[in-house]
Amino acid sequence: MGRKAGVGALGAALLAILVFFAVSSWSRQPVAATPSVQPIAFPHTIHVQTYKMDCQYCHSEARRSEYAGLPSVERCMGCHRITAADRPEVKKLAEYAATRTPIPWARVYKMPEFTYFPHKAHVRADVQCQTCHGPVETMTTVSAQTGPTIVNDLLHLVGLRPASPPLTMGWCIDCHRRENAARGTRAPLDCVTCHH
Ligand code: HEC
Ligand code: HEC
Ligand code: HEC
Ligand code: HEC
Ligand code: HEC
Repeated sequence: MGRKAGVGALGAALLAILVFFAVSSWSRQPVAATPSVQPIAFPHTIHVQTYKMDCQYCHSEARRSEYAGLPSVERCMGCHRITAADRPEVKKLAEYAATRTPIPWARVYKMPEFTYFPHKAHVRADVQCQTCHGPVETMTTVSAQTGPTIVNDLLHLVGLRPASPPLTMGWCIDCHRRENAARGTRAPLDCVTCHH
């Protein structure tokens, strides 16, 4: 009798764990890719640190649109028709320009379709790019750290409140609460503003 009950409890515990894994892996959307292989090895380090170029010189939509945008081949060629024109990676660039093909950059940061993230509001509220994207100026290849982690899920399950991983819903909401309290911004906390 006692032994049977023990097996039942073990079964229930196993089932709970299975359900937990099923649910949590269902919700684990591919928010962002792993460090990406890019068609041209574009170094943020050289452009931002050594040559002090502003982020928005290249990502010029950030201030006025939902997207930050990527620079056109022509914008790169403005410098690279002459600058470092003999280097292999810059020759690839010239190839794209000559054939008028857009560079097929691999996307690094990507939210699921059912969410709405506008750059404009954040840039205008003076949230630094690096707050969300990390120290891009030190990156030779941009990569993202993201996603719910199993450790984080487990800490929540036992009732702790670890900081939400970047790019999760908790991350957006934590910052909105913090900013609204600290400096009276009106970052949304209602579902429909971020989901529609
Ligand atoms: C000379 C132009 C240039 C400058 C200046 C520049 N970037 Fe970029 N950025 C690019 C290009 C080209 C890519 C696409 C290739 C890549 O991902 O490395 C990119 C990619 C990115 C991505 C990843 C986009 C994605 O696919 O999700 C982020 C984030 C980013 N840049 C942020 C910044 C920040 C922050 C700064 C300033 C500190 C900056 N960039 C300055 C050209 C530039
Ligand atoms: C304002 C001028 C400017 C713009 C615009 C610019 N670059 Fe550059 N880029 C430079 C300079 C300067 C260097 C350093 C060259 C050197 O090492 O002598 C460089 C270096 C590079 C290198 C490294 C070359 C090597 O192998 O040493 C690559 C690749 C490159 N740029 C790609 C791009 C791409 C792609 C874009 C457009 C998204 C772009 N650049 C836009 C000025 C620019
Ligand atoms: C509040 C956080 C936050 C700030 C601040 C922010 N970004 Fe982003 N960025 C994101 C998120 C989230 C995505 C993915 C958006 C999506 O998939 O809809 C993204 C995507 C991007 C992309 C790729 C897609 C696109 O929109 O073109 C680039 C490039 C980029 N950001 C550059 C920048 C630059 C440059 C700045 C500063 C001027 C900046 N970001 C400020 C969170 C932020
Ligand atoms: C580092 C802090 C921070 C993070 C992280 C952040 N936000 Fe915000 N968000 C803000 C601030 C500040 C505002 C501007 C509030 C204002 O203008 O008063 C804002 C405004 C917004 C708005 C309102 C846009 C409008 O037109 O009024 C939306 C939508 C939004 N954020 C979505 C998101 C989403 C989705 C994420 C997560 C992917 C996110 N935010 C992450 C700080 C942040
Ligand atoms: C500040 C923006 C923001 C607000 C406000 C917000 N969400 Fe989200 N939500 C997100 C983002 C971003 C994601 C995607 C995160 C991810 O995939 O990890 C998301 C994901 C979700 C998901 C999918 C869960 C998952 O794990 O993939 C559900 C369901 C959801 N939100 C419901 C809600 C409800 C209900 C509300 C209101 C109580 C709400 N959201 C408010 C930004 C927001």
